[in-house]
Amino acid sequence: MALFSKKTDLAQIQADLSRLPRHIAIIMDGNGRWAKKRGLPRTAGHAAGAETFRTIATYCKDIGLDYLTVYAFSSENWKRPEEEVGAIMGLLKKYLLEAIGRMERDRVKMEFFGDLSPLTSELRELCERTREISQHYEGCQVNICLNYGGRDEIVRAAQAFALDCAEGRADPNHLTVDRFGGYLYSKGVPDPDLVIRTSGELRLSNFLLWQAAYSEFYITDVLWPDFSKEELHRAIAAYQSRDRRFGGV
Ligand code: IPE
Ligand code: IPE
Ligand code: MG
Repeated sequence: MALFSKKTDLAQIQADLSRLPRHIAIIMDGNGRWAKKRGLPRTAGHAAGAETFRTIATYCKDIGLDYLTVYAFSSENWKRPEEEVGAIMGLLKKYLLEAIGRMERDRVKMEFFGDLSPLTSELRELCERTREISQHYEGCQVNICLNYGGRDEIVRAAQAFALDCAEGRADPNHLTVDRFGGYLYSKGVPDPDLVIRTSGELRLSNFLLWQAAYSEFYITDVLWPDFSKEELHRAIAAYQSRDRRFGGV
């Protein structure tokens, strides 16, 4: 019964899956509020959010999306209570272990954007293993932003570029937007066409500051754990109704 009504909903939303945006980025926000509404601890919201991520990432792969980038943990999220940070890291470990187990079946290429050095060595190794095993997969690439901050990413890129200049590998007079992009975590990945933020906040919260220069934005009040394939279709339909001008006419 539920399955049929879901199918109808999907068909009613006018998203044309034959001309998808190439790259969708998502600020997966609202886990805490989802839990609070149910009288549950915030950590229960993160567990539910991790399930939603799994569903949406699999669906994106199934419909043929080239790139999905998700904001999982920001460089500012360390300000949260130790217990909450620990729970998020625990969920990440669980997710990565499961992802590694299903990798040959899913065949999704996975990358991590962010400074992984403050993570435990166990988590860092899991990220590295996930990355290595999936490197040769073609089709969908999922980028997980972990201890990621847009400003931090730009500063690191500037440092790396300065070092290349100091050591004679680069020339400041020849720096271009494209070359600078090669120093970012997102090296080689096209800019996101569509940035989705759940739970209604009208801000970027330090997400993909450089890459989102010309992205289309879709903000929904739906909390991340409640985000669904239907919601994704709504976001894609909204994107497809936009007139992207990139400064032109
Ligand atoms: C997003 O949900 C997940 C992370 C930031 C890790 P929140 O935990 O920010 O949920 P709200 O915004 O408090 O509802
Ligand atoms: C952004 O959400 C970070 C992630 C979704 C991982 P936040 O909940 O941290 O953002 P603010 O604090 O509302 O700006
Ligand atoms: Mg939040």
